[in-house]
Amino acid sequence: MTPDYALLARQLEALFDSRDWLTNSAQTCAFIMQEVPELNWAGFYLQREPELLSLGPFQGKPACNPIPFTKGVCGAAARTQQTQRIDDVHAVADHIACDVASRSELVVPIMTRDRLWGVLDLDSPRHARFDTTDQAGIEDLVAVFMASTDLD
Ligand code: SME
Repeated sequence: MTPDYALLARQLEALFDSRDWLTNSAQTCAFIMQEVPELNWAGFYLQREPELLSLGPFQGKPACNPIPFTKGVCGAAARTQQTQRIDDVHAVADHIACDVASRSELVVPIMTRDRLWGVLDLDSPRHARFDTTDQAGIEDLVAVFMASTDLD
């Protein structure tokens, strides 16, 4: 059940009527939660101090905060500045289990001028929910968010 990510990218772009990061990140995670099937959590962690991720706007259950760069899937995305696509989070030794229902995870780093601004984190209760098409599609949605938003 792969959504039409090209359509979602156009719809997300049309949703933005501000360049404010708080407004746009809240809209982005609400939009993704509504449009992408089989998610139990979608949200942002922001780098507001060095080497630490702080919980930002999200949809889903209350989540872990803060997350150091040294820990978990979000920390790995922040550290490596590479998207992390995990089929089974239980197999990741230092995975941070905020919600035991989560089985697979996709975390996309968000860079601004060579600095990590934050990450977008998606969790699913289904094993291997995210394939390479989902990864590319969600990375495109992050690119739309970045192009429409003043990040600093
Ligand atoms: N599981 C993540 C922590 C964040 S929550 O899933 C919302 C991790 O290991 O980084």
